[in-house]
Amino acid sequence: DPVAKIAAVGGARHPSIPLPRDLFGPDGHRNSEGLDLSDRGVLARTVAVVNAPLDVRPGADPGTAGRRTDKTDRQIVGEAVSRTRAALPAWAATPVDERAATIERLADLLEEDRDRLMAICVQEARKSIPDAIGEVREAADFCRYYARQARQGLQPIELPGPTGERNTLHLDGRGVWATIAPWNFPLAIFLGQTVAALVTGNTVVAKPAPQTPAIAARAVELAHKAGVPSDALVLVPGGPEIGQALMEDVRIAGVAFTGSTGTAKRIARTLLADDERPIVPLIAETGGINAMIVDSTALPEQVVADVITSAFRSAGQRCSALRLLLVQEDVAEGVLAMLAGAMDTLRVGDPGDPANDVGPVVDRAAYDRLMTFRESVRDRWVKTVDVPAEGLFVPPTLIRLGGIDDLKQEWFGPLLHVATWKAGELSETVRRVNAKGFGLTMGLHSRIARAGEVVEAEARVGNLYVNRSMIGAVVGSQPFGGEGLSGTGPKAGGPHYLYRFVAERAVSVDT
Ligand code: NAD
Ligand code: ALA
Repeated sequence: DPVAKIAAVGGARHPSIPLPRDLFGPDGHRNSEGLDLSDRGVLARTVAVVNAPLDVRPGADPGTAGRRTDKTDRQIVGEAVSRTRAALPAWAATPVDERAATIERLADLLEEDRDRLMAICVQEARKSIPDAIGEVREAADFCRYYARQARQGLQPIELPGPTGERNTLHLDGRGVWATIAPWNFPLAIFLGQTVAALVTGNTVVAKPAPQTPAIAARAVELAHKAGVPSDALVLVPGGPEIGQALMEDVRIAGVAFTGSTGTAKRIARTLLADDERPIVPLIAETGGINAMIVDSTALPEQVVADVITSAFRSAGQRCSALRLLLVQEDVAEGVLAMLAGAMDTLRVGDPGDPANDVGPVVDRAAYDRLMTFRESVRDRWVKTVDVPAEGLFVPPTLIRLGGIDDLKQEWFGPLLHVATWKAGELSETVRRVNAKGFGLTMGLHSRIARAGEVVEAEARVGNLYVNRSMIGAVVGSQPFGGEGLSGTGPKAGGPHYLYRFVAERAVSVDT
């Protein structure tokens, strides 16, 4: 029974989710309205619904869908920024409680529209069903959390007046924000960044990843339906060129970016390139070389379960995913043998089938990049698994390293590197992971309390996970984000996030 299967993977709270397959129809592509979701033109049409004036070329590459054919990137972006600037005074003057209520309505609409959103996530981003459920839940969580934080945290603060004056600190929106999202959380991160900017009184030009414009278009459509004025949130679908043009528009008052470290650095350089331009805040959440350290006291069964989840769930396409498994030498052989056995049970296949554990990677370019690298290290494979011959399925693969320092970049897929460390070298091991310069997630498996204290004191990461998996940070409970090459902070889903979106203005009145 497919519904029961979904309930099993998604949790008992969602027993009635219809299979996206049902939404697509029996051939797996048409939805209940007969819309062919396999046709990339549908993405363009979805965009067209949201931004009616846009002249969309059916069948266009999703990266360019939504573009007016006769306009340059600079013109498209320029118009979007002009519209959002014009909408700014009214939205900024809307009381924070009202803005928060609008964002809460959006959370309700997301939940009502869950099945369609899941279907688009599976179809467009090749998300598995559990991941698609997670996307919708997390997007709604971001809306409710930031709405609550805004209500509580953005009220003016009365400060002492030592000479009898009245001092007030106001927290106001900064202006037009640009939000730039990755394809791997095309709803949750796209919307999380965007609603944070909106609820704090900014207007937003939102650029989704070129691979995932349809889910973003649907999210924006729902935001407008919830009551965000249409010119307060304008979608500009497109690829790096549109993003670059947006960064070059000097009217942008802030940027919330999530994506790769290289792109974040390019954006930072663009924002600082023009001497005349105001200095604006950049929130950049980027990638990582995330390590899990396992010592000889760890429970091997738990280690293996958590490694499988952390490295291979979502086909390894999470910034938080485990990339580097570091096992104490004394127990490495046993742990790796058990891990290899567990990898044999992984089911790789159609992401629309809830029985599958690992789906395809996002697109041909990612597939080619990962497969070329994997082939180049064939002599170091410890374990790999069979995958369907057709489709963009990268086989989950365990790759042995000569040493910890050998892994120098993030491989964004189901490829896990492994190295060993010697008893007594826990601190040194953490130090060598830190030395890579990234600082997103780290895991530790140990039953020695002191080991936890050492790693907690020395790890330079935004999110440390002890005796558990390393993915799936929960909004409001595990604020998420890294340091160093992994990001600027503040943490998404954390109590300080909204403050980066506001300007603090102190007013002192002599009474
Ligand atoms: P990417 O950097 O290629 O693209 C991200 C976004 O930036 C896209 O919308 C892209 O079109 C846009 N872009 C590209 N060049 C630009 C430019 N010059 N100016 C402005 N925008 C530009 O990343 P991706 O492949 O979409 O996402 C995967 C990466 O994101 C991984 O490195 C992953 O670790 C990271 N990520 C980080 C987090 C986090 O919270 N830390 C979350 C998800 C993904
Ligand atoms: N917030 C996402 C996770 O924790 C990236 O997996």
